[in-house]
Amino acid sequence: MKHKILVSGGTGYIGSHTIIELLRSGLFEPIAVDSCIRSTPETLDRIEKVTGIRVKHYKIDICDKKSFFDIFKKEEDIAGVIHFAAFKCVPESVAQPLMYYRNNLGSLENVLDACGKFGVRNLIFSSSASVYGDVKDLPVTENTPLGVPFCPYAHTKQIGEQMIHFCAEQNPELQSVILRYFNPVGNDMSGLIGELSPDKPNNLMPIVTQVAIGKLPKLTVFGTDYDTRDGSCIRDYIHVCDIADAHVKALQFLLDGKNASNCETFNLGSGKGVSVIEMIDAFEKVNGIKLNCVFGERRPGDVPAIYSDSQRANQLLGWRCQHDINDMVESAWKWEKQLNGEQRN
Ligand code: NAD
Ligand code: WQD
Repeated sequence: MKHKILVSGGTGYIGSHTIIELLRSGLFEPIAVDSCIRSTPETLDRIEKVTGIRVKHYKIDICDKKSFFDIFKKEEDIAGVIHFAAFKCVPESVAQPLMYYRNNLGSLENVLDACGKFGVRNLIFSSSASVYGDVKDLPVTENTPLGVPFCPYAHTKQIGEQMIHFCAEQNPELQSVILRYFNPVGNDMSGLIGELSPDKPNNLMPIVTQVAIGKLPKLTVFGTDYDTRDGSCIRDYIHVCDIADAHVKALQFLLDGKNASNCETFNLGSGKGVSVIEMIDAFEKVNGIKLNCVFGERRPGDVPAIYSDSQRANQLLGWRCQHDINDMVESAWKWEKQLNGEQRN
């Protein structure tokens, strides 16, 4: 029998890709729970196009405890929850901190409460490399001390991790994995599904593709005087399908009882640092496009360089990145073109 997995944030960017990988594994029956406040239900059509399977969806706000608990009453045998649902935009979190604490921590509180009350034994939580803050010693391992939170968003991830640790201590039945993603980019290689970024995106890759398609006039490289090999910032970009695959592996790890403690933490990165200029070059070369690009000032709050040591996930989860930077830029562009075609029709 397939394991029934509740995927909160299942119509979002990483959630939808993870649903696809859960379906591809043939071992799981994912159920999406998403209010669609930052996504659309059409994502379910896209998942169906890619996999041939229609996924069940509950369109509710997870902060609404009654509606959320009703799902567990109806779907009796939920084996695990993957909790993606959250707000994730750093500048928005600075502008509206309470909205971030309320949504990111309120939803997690209900997830933890439901796991306890309905006897759900397995939990995977989306955390972020932002919990590390400005790190000097690279690469970053799971033992690198957490930094001073640089924004409310990063703070919600630090508090969220701590909430899970305390609940795992109190409830030994609950087996949990915390995954700290570095910079997820790219989309399913089919080009049929991908990130629905806001009109004014903040992250590098959606800005690159929107400049390439002509939705945005130009791309500014934020800072060229950093102490890095070409003066621009270095990040650890990781293909979203590799992130998705790690969730499937993490679930299997828990279901097989391979976890040494009931709250395990893993970094998810490629382990390679790539500069902004290198990313732009790769996009131009792989896709045969020249981007309208200018060099500008540093963006406040940016750290010069951060990349992960992901050996722990490699060894314990048996997980490895299957996609390189070329796949990231190729799939990002393929999706932007597909989306643009749909919006014009
Ligand atoms: P996303 O915005 O595409 O997906 C999040 C989904 O959660 C959306 O579909 C949204 O509608 C839903 N949602 C939010 N609050 C909800 C609520 N209260 N009830 C029901 N649904 C709700 O974001 P994503 O990129 O897929 O990120 C998923 C998770 O990964 C988040 O927790 C995010 O913080 C974390 N993360 C993302 C990145 C990244 O760069 N994308 C990096 C590190 C960590
Ligand atoms: C990447 C690099 C920019 C836009 C953030 C969050 C982090 C995580 C991922 C959720 C940086 C440069 C960007 C542009 C540029 N999210 N850049 N011109 O800041 O590493 O991480 O998203 O958890 O928590 O902090 O990602 O994509 O914004 O930037 O030069 O127009 O691209 O300076 O060096 P970041 P990003």
